[in-house]
Amino acid sequence: MMSDDNDMVSNPTNTPVFADVLAERLSRRGFIGIAAAGAATAMATSPLAISEALANGPTTLSFKEVKQGVDEKLHVAEGYDAQVLIRWGDKVMPDAPAFDPAKQTAAAQAQQFGYNNDFIGYFPLPFGTKNSDSGLLVVNHEYTIPFLMFAGMTEKTYLEQETPEHIEIELAAHGASVVEVRKRDGRWSVVDKSRFARRLTATSPMRISGPAAGHDRLKTKADLTGTRVLGTLNNCAGGKTPWGTVLTAEENFNGYFSGDPAKTKEAKNYARLGFAAKSRYAFSKTHARFNVESEPNEPNRFGWIVEFDPYDPNSVPVKRTALGRFKHEGATCVVNKDGRVVVYSGDDERFDYLYRFVTAGKFDPINREANRDLLDSGTLYVAKFSADGTLAWLPLIFGAQWLTPDQGFNSQADIMIETRRAADLLGATPMDRPEDVETNPVNGGVYLALTNNTSRKSDRLDKVNPRADNKHGHIVEMLPPGGMGKDADHTATTYTWNILLLAGDPANKADAPKYAAGTTENGWLSCPDNVAFDSKGRLWISTDGAQNAAKIADGIWACDVVGTGRALTKRFLRLPTGAEMCGPEFTPDDRTFFVAVQHPAEDEGSSYDKPSTRWPDFKANMPPRPAVVAITKRGGGTVGS
Ligand code: FEO
Ligand code: CA
Ligand code: CA
Repeated sequence: MMSDDNDMVSNPTNTPVFADVLAERLSRRGFIGIAAAGAATAMATSPLAISEALANGPTTLSFKEVKQGVDEKLHVAEGYDAQVLIRWGDKVMPDAPAFDPAKQTAAAQAQQFGYNNDFIGYFPLPFGTKNSDSGLLVVNHEYTIPFLMFAGMTEKTYLEQETPEHIEIELAAHGASVVEVRKRDGRWSVVDKSRFARRLTATSPMRISGPAAGHDRLKTKADLTGTRVLGTLNNCAGGKTPWGTVLTAEENFNGYFSGDPAKTKEAKNYARLGFAAKSRYAFSKTHARFNVESEPNEPNRFGWIVEFDPYDPNSVPVKRTALGRFKHEGATCVVNKDGRVVVYSGDDERFDYLYRFVTAGKFDPINREANRDLLDSGTLYVAKFSADGTLAWLPLIFGAQWLTPDQGFNSQADIMIETRRAADLLGATPMDRPEDVETNPVNGGVYLALTNNTSRKSDRLDKVNPRADNKHGHIVEMLPPGGMGKDADHTATTYTWNILLLAGDPANKADAPKYAAGTTENGWLSCPDNVAFDSKGRLWISTDGAQNAAKIADGIWACDVVGTGRALTKRFLRLPTGAEMCGPEFTPDDRTFFVAVQHPAEDEGSSYDKPSTRWPDFKANMPPRPAVVAITKRGGGTVGS
């Protein structure tokens, strides 16, 4: 995400302060060794994990670590190949012209791969199989960086320099791409002229459904129905539904709007989302809908989870308002044992919350079409973590508790539109930037990456956010009741939780990190963001911000979550300077690991004309390009082994 977004705080509520926190940090309950804490979670270690641990030492992960550091290149563990699969500007649609960065046009960009690839979803072909050699990749294009995309611009001057054509290029570089990919003889390629190829942009027509659809607060001059919207913005991470559609998450949408939010009737709503009079994008210069004084309801049409079917290039994307409106990091789905579908979603801002949506209906594994509108009805919950190691899910339901007309909520639609304010009233726990959430297919646990929060001071600590000036972030493990794997009850109102690890440099006492014994000088990390599990239940962590926080390039680390390798992180991949690591996504056979390299060269003072790296092309006439990379083990085999 843009560095301005990283610093934002718009939650005015007071956190409950646990007076005993500092004492507890040193107590047995709060800071027992991580390996012992693993045993204490009462989750059995699988026989497979134990036998592999014996073979590889304390961890099941056998790769040799990449060294810490920062340079212009991408480095992956020895014995692995990292193949650049598709880059910003590469062909997506059949008639896309070749990329010419010096003469880019909006028409070309709308047919080419967009900027700042984030989420990656792999969808096997054909649908319903576990084919790991042929599939669709859905990739989000989160945001644009004009001074790295266009010649002659700088970080300080780009807003004034942008022409209407630059703005149209940027709108077209947002959204998502669908590309067909296949592996032949160990190498991946994008299939030319695939019938699945698709680009969604910040102007693609979309539908709005669920409790807030058609509400007056969603109506604009261009859409008197409040059900049709142009485009999706700031698509960060996402998720895959069990019925083979993709969920793409609208995150920092506030930054696209200009005009004084205080002059609108939505002032309170927009203040809670961090709206400012000055936009970080030039869109409102040529598109009045991006000025809140011209079109006060337009921002209510962003901040949603958007669903579309990658197998049907004509499907109209749908903004599912039942999942709430906030700065959605992602949307991770799991089918509960009773057939209901649960979607976890973090609200990525300092002191914001973790949410869970539970569908009213049940997933139909036979009839795909029957699931089409499953995400329109259900209950949205927000998480409240307690110092005793339990977590309560609080339902956001109109009329209950304080969610009444007295507080400005006149319907369930109002709660969906102002989800943050509703969650404030219920006493949700303000977190250290909730990013990705993933469920572990082996143990049924739910893992939440908290990137960092240097605004948390010592008087606002609690057990789940235990460090002041949290530069490096941490990972929380949540355990639903009911049992392991598929028996875990993701609809339960109470879970238990632990801290899996506290990131930071073990050599720096002030960081006060926590890993397993055996973590090396290259194995520590900073700023966990997106996470993925392989099919053995091992956690793969991508980072965003390690270079600023800890002077080490972002990348990928992996660890076990059970046994002696629990929280013993190892560095697998290191990014070129200025880049953030996104995506991580395995094929079903674990033999390919797709990662997204976002904003290479986004360093201070770096620009299109003088970038800090020209990864991945390293050609004088080619700027740095965000790109998706496919990682495979040389000679075959599963990644991580
Ligand atoms: Fe777009 Fe929270 O990262
Ligand atoms: Ca991030
Ligand atoms: Ca992210």
